[in-house]
Order: sequence, then C-alpha cells, then structure tokens
Amino acid sequence: MNKKIKVVLVFGTRPEAIKMAPLVLELKKREEFEAITLVTAQHRQMLDQVLELFDIVPDYDLNLMKPNQNLWSLTTDVIMQTKEIFEKVKPDIVLVHGDTTTAGATALSAFYARIPIGHVEAGLRTFNKDYPFPEEINRVLADAVSDMHFCPTDGSVENIKKSGIKTPNSIYKTGNTVIDALLYTVNNKEVDLDFINLDPNLKTILLTSHRRENFGKPLEEICDAVIELINSNKDIQVVYPVHLNPNVQNTVRAKLGNVERVKLIDPLDYAPFASLMKKSHIILTDSGGVQEEAPSLGVPVLVLRDETERPEALEYGCVKLVGAHKDKIVSTVQKLLNDKDFYNSMKQAVNPYGDGLASSRIAEAILTRFQN
Ligand code: UD1
Ligand code: UDP
Repeated sequence: MNKKIKVVLVFGTRPEAIKMAPLVLELKKREEFEAITLVTAQHRQMLDQVLELFDIVPDYDLNLMKPNQNLWSLTTDVIMQTKEIFEKVKPDIVLVHGDTTTAGATALSAFYARIPIGHVEAGLRTFNKDYPFPEEINRVLADAVSDMHFCPTDGSVENIKKSGIKTPNSIYKTGNTVIDALLYTVNNKEVDLDFINLDPNLKTILLTSHRRENFGKPLEEICDAVIELINSNKDIQVVYPVHLNPNVQNTVRAKLGNVERVKLIDPLDYAPFASLMKKSHIILTDSGGVQEEAPSLGVPVLVLRDETERPEALEYGCVKLVGAHKDKIVSTVQKLLNDKDFYNSMKQAVNPYGDGLASSRIAEAILTRFQN
C-alpha cells in the first residue's frame, strides 16, 4: 500500500472544533490518510463540549487557555508549541480553520516550518482590518501562506482570486463544513430541551453575542434593547447562552441577570443549541457560525454587527444587519413580531453555505494533490 498522507488538523475554539469535526471524522475513516488532531485549547470547556459530542480524542492537546487571556501571549504560545509538534510529527499538510488566533498563529508557524498548509473556510472578507478584530487579519494571514484554499462559496472563491495570491491551482469551492456538522448533529443526536425550562406559550428569541468589537457599550446597548422588547411584548421570552469570556459575562449578568422572561444560561452543547435554534422564533447574534446555520433551519436572523464577511444569506433575505444599535434592534424585532409578511419573507429556508458534503470534497482535493 502507498504511504498514508499525514494530515495534522489544528483547532482551538468552539466554532473551529464544530467545523473541523466532520473533517476529522472523514479523514479518519479513509485509509489513505493518517489524521492527527492537535488542539491548542484556546478554549477549554467550550472546546471539550464539542470533542465529546463528536467522540474526538485529540492526539495532542496544548491546553493553552488562561483566564481572560491576551492576544500576545496566546499567539506566541501557539507559535512556539505548534513548532515543537510539527518538528516531531513532520506532517505532509497542516489544516487550519477560519480566523481565530489559533488559525492565524498556526498557519504562520507551519509556514515557518515550510509545511504545506490548507485553509478551511478560506476567502471570507469584510475588507476592513478592524472589523471583526482581529479575525479579518487572521484569515488574510492564513490565506496568504496557504497552499490549498477550501472556500465555502462563490464569493469566497472570488475573494481569493482577487487577492492576488499566486499559488497554482490552490482554490477549491467545497461548501462550508458547518453544514456537514449541523446535518450530522440534527440527524444523529437526540436532544431534550426541558432542562432550559422555556415557556411553550411564549415566542422564543435566541440571543448570542461575544465579539470583541461589541465589548462594553455596544453590548450594554444590546442588553438595553432586550429589556425594552421584553417590557413591550408580554408574549416573548429571551434565552441567552452566555459566552464564557469574562468581558461578556460581566456585562450581560449585570444588565440582564434579573430581568423577567430573560434566561441567561451556560453555553450549550452543540446538539441542544442546534435544536434551540430550530425552535426559536427569531435569532439575534453576532456569531459567524450561527449566521451560516440558521438560514438552513428557516429562522430569521438579525446580525448584531454593521458588516459581515458572510453576505450570501443577506442576499437571500433571511439575514439582516442591525448592528449593536438599540433602536434598530428594537424596531426590526418589533416588525418581525407584528408584520407576518415581513416575518415570512425572512423565514424561507435556504442554504447558501453548503450541502453537507464539504468534508468529503476537501478530502478528495488533498488526495488528488498528494497522489499526483
Ligand atoms: C475567540 C476567537 C473569536 C471566536 C470566538 C468563538 C480570537 C482572537 N477570538 O474569542 O474569533 O469568534 O473565540 O467563541 O481568536 N473562556 C473560558 N472557557 C472557554 C472559552 C473561553 O473560560 O471554554 C474565557 C477565558 O477566560 C478566556 C476568554 O474566555 O481567556 C477569552 O477566550 P478567547 O479565545 O481569547 O476569546 P473569545 O472571545 O472566546
Ligand atoms: N454554539 C453552541 N452552543 C452555544 C452557542 C453557540 O454550540 O451555546 C455553536 C453555534 O451553533 C455555532 C458555533 O457555536 O456552530 C459558533 O460559535 P461562536 O459564536 O462562539 O463563534 P463564531 O462562529 O462567531 O466564531
């Protein structure tokens, strides 16, 4: 038999884990690959939730997370510690995902080690270096040093082409592995949401917010919008699985801790979260992943940002940008609650981000490249 292709998949946060898990499972089941998982554990609890769901036991765990960590120390830790593993393992290719510090720093580390790099979820852009911060620059960096760009959509393919990266035949349109993960989870994992104690007679609004640009005043404004909506609509409840970042926890618990019909809960495992998205009447979020998942579940999404690197769902009409602006959030939610036609125009289930086969396309692309 030919020598196996040694692939090291690196990830560290919840969203990277959700989106890399289907690819880990795909590569592990194919005999042409030796799939090695290396987690930085930039996140700890929120990463472990995902590893458990997908039954992934990492081959290497750097266990890097520190309370309220900063970008400088995390970046240097990722670079120095992945260097050691790369020198020991000698991968044929390193795969990174998306736009986190784990992704940017690992891509740089693999580049220094002269190892080929594949970027999963390549080509997303706002073209604004400060928004989202620091993610826009992490993904530009990862794309710049990558030899294989796995782009989820036509738009992301175009962004790589326009960026002037001169790596021959590097671009693959694969769809987003998030849809692979969502379909796997919705189809295979039983969930019971009773433990959240939602009132079945009320409409549920699901809220998530964790972006650095929203820390402080903008997040307070989002919370104020929730309070105003709760006060003027007795038939709604808001559920917020609060991200573990202390910059989020402190603001949200102080503002919304004692507001009736607002449930602040711990971050949910992916399976109950997917089920909660499906059951929700409206989703308010600044998350990247949720913007990709909710359209395929047919739930209107209001994005708590002024710009997005995921314009496709906006074009289909199932997502709208409302920023972290209280008046805009309140008036748009109010319109969704009161205007059936408007609600139905946003409710259409579309899937601009994939068909559930992204991981197998990525595996095929790597196989073709390394067998030739
Ligand atoms: C990170 C990513 C962001 C991504 C987000 C997904 C960077 C710079 N930021 O932001 O792009 O959208 O993850 O959620 O890469 N914490 C815990 N337990 C956990 C996770 C976090 O306690 O499981 C707390 C810790 O105090 C940690 C802090 O949150 O120091 C910040 O974590 P960090 O990964 O630096 O930033 P995020 O805001 O999570
Ligand atoms: N998610 C989850 N539990 C939660 C909130 C979100 O499993 O309590 C999932 C969500 O479905 C999506 C991913 O986490 O797949 C998004 O992660 P996050 O919003 O933290 O990061 P981003 O996508 O903005 O980088």
